[in-house]
Amino acid sequence: MCSKGVLAAVGNTPLIRLERLEPAGGAEVWLKLEAGNPTGSYKDRMAVSVLGRAMERGELAPGNRVVEYTGGSTGTALAFVSAALGVTFTAVFSDAFSASKRLAMEAFGAEVLVEESDGTITPELIQRMKARAYALAEEPGSFYADQFGSADVRAGYEPMGHEIAADLGQVDVLVAAVGTGAALMGTADGLAARGIDPRLIALEPAQSPLLTTGKGGPHRVEGIGVGFAPPFLDRGRLAEVRAIDQDRAFEMCRTLARQAGVFCGGSTGLNVVAAIELSRELGRGRKVVTLGCDSGAKYLGGHIYG
Ligand SMILES: Cc1ncc(COP(=O)(O)O)c(C=O)c1O
Repeated sequence: MCSKGVLAAVGNTPLIRLERLEPAGGAEVWLKLEAGNPTGSYKDRMAVSVLGRAMERGELAPGNRVVEYTGGSTGTALAFVSAALGVTFTAVFSDAFSASKRLAMEAFGAEVLVEESDGTITPELIQRMKARAYALAEEPGSFYADQFGSADVRAGYEPMGHEIAADLGQVDVLVAAVGTGAALMGTADGLAARGIDPRLIALEPAQSPLLTTGKGGPHRVEGIGVGFAPPFLDRGRLAEVRAIDQDRAFEMCRTLARQAGVFCGGSTGLNVVAAIELSRELGRGRKVVTLGCDSGAKYLGGHIYG
């Protein structure tokens, strides 16, 4: 335990029941509270998996440099785990993303290279960030984390499924909003490994209904609705995809904070809106599980909490 150092603080998060928000006669609603991870996000799990396994395979060694292009939460998790493992981290970032995320990466000692923007996140900007990260990753001693391609990303969330299985035993529905799809699918893989096979439901913002209608759009729920097909989402395993209105998600964040003491970001609010909807549909005796992706602390001063 001690030899793992600070990385032992990742995972084993609480699974809480949102009993007071459950509709009368509805199914139990359970939330996996991932804000307890060191950077306040479930992304710490994938950073431990990607960098830890790369070290085990000898692809990454102390003194090397990790490279990734990122808008924030993934970068902060990679910066944290890099610091813990004794490697450096270079993030290709942009001024289109929030300055606090840049500061968080720098706090962990990351080098943050900023691509200039007109203040909006466009496909052209993402392409530019990607090209710069690819070029840096070609340099000797560099390791490309590959958040949209590495199998270790999805595998990093399997322990979340193991933990939920140990806590509940039965799960009827697992529902979660998708960015890359890794958290939903990795958790489902972990549950399956324990013999639990819930209905899987993926969520997206109604303002960017790419999966449900084929056409994305601008929205304000950070981390999800990325505007391209989620690379880890196994659509053949999904029972359904639902689009949820972002304003209901933000309202749910405020309700969760005030009525349940749960402080979360917009994607978690969206997850809970859908979980309550499903609770009503499924009825008593069933269990709906959803994910508390990150802490509301990351969103203070923004449009959710004012
Ligand atoms: C706050 C937040 N919620 C949800 C997600 C979606 O997770 P995944 O990419 O594993 O689908 C992300 C991913 O960036 C995120 O940052």
